[in-house]
Amino acid sequence: MKPWIWFTFVACLFAASTEAASNLVCYYDSSSYTREGLGKLLNPDLEIGVQFCTHLVYGYAGIRGENYQAYSLNENLDIYKHQFSEVTALKRKYQHLKVLLSVGGDHDIDVEHPNKYIELLEGEKVRQTAFIRSAYDLVKNYGFDGLDLAYQFPKNKPRKVHGELGSAWKSIKKLFTGDFIVDPNAALHKEQFTAFVRDVKDSLRADGFLLSLTVLPNVNSTWYFDIPALNGLVDFVNLAAFDFLTPARNPDEADYTAPIYNPTSKDRLGHYNADFQVNYWVKQGFPSSKINLGVATYGNAWKLSHDSGLEGVPVVPHTEGPAPEGTQSQKPGLLSYAEICGKLSNPHNQFLKGNDSPLRRITDPTKRYGTIAYRPVDGQITEGIWVSYDDPDTASNKAAYARSINLGGVALFDLSYDDFRGQCTNDRYPILRAVKYRL
Ligand SMILES: *[C@@H]1O[C@H](CO)[C@@H](O)[C@H](O)[C@H]1NC(C)=O
Repeated sequence: MKPWIWFTFVACLFAASTEAASNLVCYYDSSSYTREGLGKLLNPDLEIGVQFCTHLVYGYAGIRGENYQAYSLNENLDIYKHQFSEVTALKRKYQHLKVLLSVGGDHDIDVEHPNKYIELLEGEKVRQTAFIRSAYDLVKNYGFDGLDLAYQFPKNKPRKVHGELGSAWKSIKKLFTGDFIVDPNAALHKEQFTAFVRDVKDSLRADGFLLSLTVLPNVNSTWYFDIPALNGLVDFVNLAAFDFLTPARNPDEADYTAPIYNPTSKDRLGHYNADFQVNYWVKQGFPSSKINLGVATYGNAWKLSHDSGLEGVPVVPHTEGPAPEGTQSQKPGLLSYAEICGKLSNPHNQFLKGNDSPLRRITDPTKRYGTIAYRPVDGQITEGIWVSYDDPDTASNKAAYARSINLGGVALFDLSYDDFRGQCTNDRYPILRAVKYRL
């Protein structure tokens, strides 16, 4: 073989082997800009994270209930304070970066029009045209590279982790009473969504804009995504394979909220794990190189009761819904990685008592299920708390998993919940870095 042929051959091999698992899609929720205190993420902090990302997904745009136009959910910041333009301008400095605008993402909460995402699909073509034109304008006018549809479909009903005795009978009963059925017209909506995505894609094609999908937690892909048809229309899909259980949806029991695989010790529901979700897309013929595995940078925190026991081993019974909000996350039942890390044993808190005493950590030597931190109820004063989350180690396990099955990469939800200040170990964005290092 001539040397240059050999060289080309080796170069191609190398290119092929680095092709897979190279995406690091970073979600950026711009509402983090308006948080109070240490949770507030400003642009210099954002920029430090962005260097590790191949894509930045900017959240969020929504749909106007009256006319179905796409619009910024925070116009004051995004438009009038120029945050859209400032963030897309980061591309000048980081030329590898692609910035997409995301629609929905469970941030478009609209009590007056709770069904607008379905109505947009069901309605006449003019509605969809209104959405498509306005979405295109936002992408074009503010310098985005494309659009992400984090479409707010109805979510499946929360269920017990594993059925008690007689669950077979229960499932049959539920089947007949229709208790499983969230959306009787799901099949129709699936068809309509495919047609809608096709039209969105057509509007973006001439400019070469990207189109991606985000499958939100607890949205059932079987119901809404015609996977073979979507393959030809979207550049990639981000599977939010976490929040399988949350303290809001499952107040009275706690379990791993984002395991890679199903824990074998108890017979749990088959679809509450990342591997099932990923495989579902792969089995339907979607190229694995276009699937990014979603990893959360926050934990779900339950409040424990006296009856939840002292062990902390899931499934934890008799929980009492969401734990109180963190000072940084400002959402009940949700703690950012920085907050969780601050509650683990460290030189400042190891001798503290009551609600300031540190949480115990249960690591995951199997590399399959994720990390747990908890503190049982103690006497009358100490509140019990139980958190399931991914730390840099387990997030890195997920990146290794993504690589091992040749996925496109990892999608991180989101930058603002990672320890972007380095409060924990002085390392800024430890989860993001751990994932980057493994991909
Ligand atoms: C969707 O729901 C059905 C019925 O509950 C379940 O069998 C299926 O595994 C779910 N699909 C996914 C991708 O989670």
